[in-house]
Amino acid sequence: MSIPVPHSTLPLGGRHLVLGLSGGIACYKSAELLRELTRAGASVQVVMTDAACHFITPVTMQALSGLPVVTSQWDAREPNNMAHINLSREADAILVAPASADFIAQIAQGRADEMLSLLCIARPVESCPLLLAPAMNREMWAHPATRRNVAQVLADGALLLGPGSGDQACGEVGDGRMLEATELRDELIAFFQPKLLAGKRLLITAGPTFEPIDPVRGITNRSSGKMGFAIARAAQEAGAEVTLVAGPVALATPRHVRRIDVQSALQMFDAVLPLAPGFDVFVGTAAVADWRPVTAADQKIKKDGSGVVPTLAFTENPDILASVARLNPPPFCVGFAAESQDVARHAREKLVRKHLPLVVGNLGPATFGRDDNSLLLIDAEGERALPTADKLSLARELVREIAERLGRSGSPA
Ligand code: C5P
Repeated sequence: MSIPVPHSTLPLGGRHLVLGLSGGIACYKSAELLRELTRAGASVQVVMTDAACHFITPVTMQALSGLPVVTSQWDAREPNNMAHINLSREADAILVAPASADFIAQIAQGRADEMLSLLCIARPVESCPLLLAPAMNREMWAHPATRRNVAQVLADGALLLGPGSGDQACGEVGDGRMLEATELRDELIAFFQPKLLAGKRLLITAGPTFEPIDPVRGITNRSSGKMGFAIARAAQEAGAEVTLVAGPVALATPRHVRRIDVQSALQMFDAVLPLAPGFDVFVGTAAVADWRPVTAADQKIKKDGSGVVPTLAFTENPDILASVARLNPPPFCVGFAAESQDVARHAREKLVRKHLPLVVGNLGPATFGRDDNSLLLIDAEGERALPTADKLSLARELVREIAERLGRSGSPA
C-alpha cells in the first residue's frame, strides 16, 4: 500500500495555476504537462482557445485536472458571469502552453476577444504573473513580427519559458518547439522559489574523480554526484548563475546550469582555479581522490602469468577547496566532509584546517548513490543538523544558509 504524500511536501503543493492552451500541435504535450503539474501538487484550472480544441479535447483536460475546462467568455456557469476576472484572481500564475505566434501577437496588442487572451489582459499584473511557453515553426519564431511581439510581451512583464530547439512536427529543425512537460514543470517549480541568490555567481564541484592507472583502469570512489547536482539546481532556482564542474557521473545537467566535465583531480583543479576568482561562492561537494598513481601507463598493464603483481606508487592530489580558500579575496567557501564516523569532529577539523566559513558534514556510506541524506552544518558559531530529507530539499535549505551568510557579510567577491 502506498502512503499518500501530504501536499505541503510537494514542490507545487498549495499552488493554484491557470493552464491556458492556444492552438498548436504542441497541445498534445499539454496533457502530459497537466499531469506533471498536478503530480507536483498544483491545482490546475484549464482554459482553452477554440483553436486549441481542434488539437486536443477539453474532455481529456477535464479528466486530468478534475475541473471543467473553460473555453468561452460566454460560459454562464460562474454566478457573476465573470470567469475572466475570477480565474486570474484565484491563480498564483497563468501558464500558456502552447503559446502560439497568434496568441503572443494578441497579448502584445492587448486584444481580448476570446476567453484566454481576455483572462491574461484582465489579470492583476503584480500578483498573477503570465508565463508563456512558445510553440511554433522555426520560421514563425524567427519572423520579425514575432520578434517584435515577443519583445513587447516581455516589456509588459510576461516571462518566456523556452522555446526549445530541435525536431519540429512539420519536419523542419530549429528554434520554436515547446519545452517538454517535465522541463516546463521544473521551470514552474524554479519560478516559485525565493530568489535568495539573485545576482550571485556560484561555482560547484560534484561527483568523484577518476585517477587513471592505465588506459582501461583507474581508482575512483562511490560518490554519485547527486548532492552537488542538487545544490547546483537549488542555487539556480534561487536566481544564481551556476557553473558546475563535474567528475564522471551519469546525471542530467540541471536547467540553465553551465557544466564542465572532467575526469581526474588534476583536471578538476585546472578547471576550477582559473575560474574561482570571478565567483561569489565556491561549494566543494566533489569527492576528490586524495591520491593518484604517480604514473599512468600508456598501454594496458598485462597479466603475464608469472604471478608477479604490479606495484602502484601514489602521489597526493592538490587540495582544490583549500587552494580556492587561499585566494585573496576568496569566494565564500563551503566544504563537504563525507565521513564514516565522528562527523562533527572531522567536519570542524576541516573548517579550521582549510580556513572555511562553513563545512557540511554527512555520513558517506549512508548516502552514496541515494536520493536522501542528512547534513550537519558547522561554522565558527556552532552546529545545525538538517534531518533526513531528499537531497534537493536539503540543497534548498543549504542555499538559504549560504544566502543568509552572504547577507551578513555583504558580497565577499
Ligand atoms: O580533505 P577532505 O577530502 O577530507 O575534505 C573534503 C572537502 O575538500 C570536500 O569539500 C572536497 O570537495 C574538498 N576537496 C578538494 N580537493 C581535494 C580534496 C578534497 O577540493 N583534493
